[in-house]
Amino acid sequence: MTATAASSPPGAARKRAPDETLDLRRRPRRLRRSAAIRGMVRETRLSPEGLVYPLFVCEGEGVRREVPSMPGVYQLSVDQAVAETAAAAGDGVRSVLLFGLPHDEDKDEIGSPADDPGAPVQAAIRAIKDETPDVLVVTDVCLCEYTSHGHCGIVDGDVIVNDATVDRLARTAVSHAEAGADVVAPSDMMDGRVGAIREALDAARFADVAIMSYAAKYCSAYYGPFRDAADSAPAFGDRRTHQMDPANVEEALREVALDLEEGADIVMVKPALHYLDVIARVKEEFGCPTAAYHVSGEYAMLKAAARNGWLDEERAMREVLTAITRAGADIVITYYARVAARLLG
Ligand code: PBG
Ligand code: ZN
Repeated sequence: MTATAASSPPGAARKRAPDETLDLRRRPRRLRRSAAIRGMVRETRLSPEGLVYPLFVCEGEGVRREVPSMPGVYQLSVDQAVAETAAAAGDGVRSVLLFGLPHDEDKDEIGSPADDPGAPVQAAIRAIKDETPDVLVVTDVCLCEYTSHGHCGIVDGDVIVNDATVDRLARTAVSHAEAGADVVAPSDMMDGRVGAIREALDAARFADVAIMSYAAKYCSAYYGPFRDAADSAPAFGDRRTHQMDPANVEEALREVALDLEEGADIVMVKPALHYLDVIARVKEEFGCPTAAYHVSGEYAMLKAAARNGWLDEERAMREVLTAITRAGADIVITYYARVAARLLG
């Protein structure tokens, strides 16, 4: 065929000799003819079971404040977080991921509200477990929502001090477990924190509390809206000395290996869409439960385009979830969890 094409004059359509036929024994289109046959041969099937729904829990009562850059996402006081969890469970969502928003005046250099049993996250865990005990409660373990400077750890000058931070994170994880969390999810990217958290949980008799580690968390521009939602933007500098360089994938595999050695039960890649290759490699090389976080900026992009009428939001959302799952994620953390569960349930 190439030879014929090459010998044809440029621009001329290739003419077929009368006795020459196309090889139509193979017709891939046969399997695309109807919804039924497409469904039958579909390789990636979505289910609400793997969805995790992030919630931002703030102080107060009756508070439901929409995040401007994340339409449909709210800062919720504990009572509202409980109601939202129950509503999400009604839609088929079986797991929530909690972030805490303490009062500004309670934040300090060491992030004291992080392990305060009376802080919003701890109160929300107890209240959600009371109201909807079957919903799996996962908690984000980091200090950036609780420190006055907005950094993920203890700061000395402009350095984030690893080991002192790890100690604070372990205490935070234990305080979440004491409140009734099922899974703790360290998102800080300090070295050795998974091992320290495992040890602290076990010592406090929480051997059954699982760790979902943000193992390959990249230093991404796509966390922008989240930092509005959680009021956790760093007051100076950035997160490049702990979060990963977007250029690296081998390093992600080393991070995952370390976290698994230290006792992670589930590993996460974050963000999701620009890191599908990372998800695929992690799943392929380790075969362990793998989560991907479709982050705030990825959500905001879709919302913005949809609001302008530039794309069909439902189709785009389905495509996103399909792509992340096809890449190898078993678990997808997404602000679309409720909408997706309703659609898939
Ligand atoms: C806290 C944390 C962040 C996100 C999850 N946990 C922000 C950050 O690291 O700056 C981002 C989630 C999102 O963008 O949706 N360390
Ligand atoms: Zn952080």
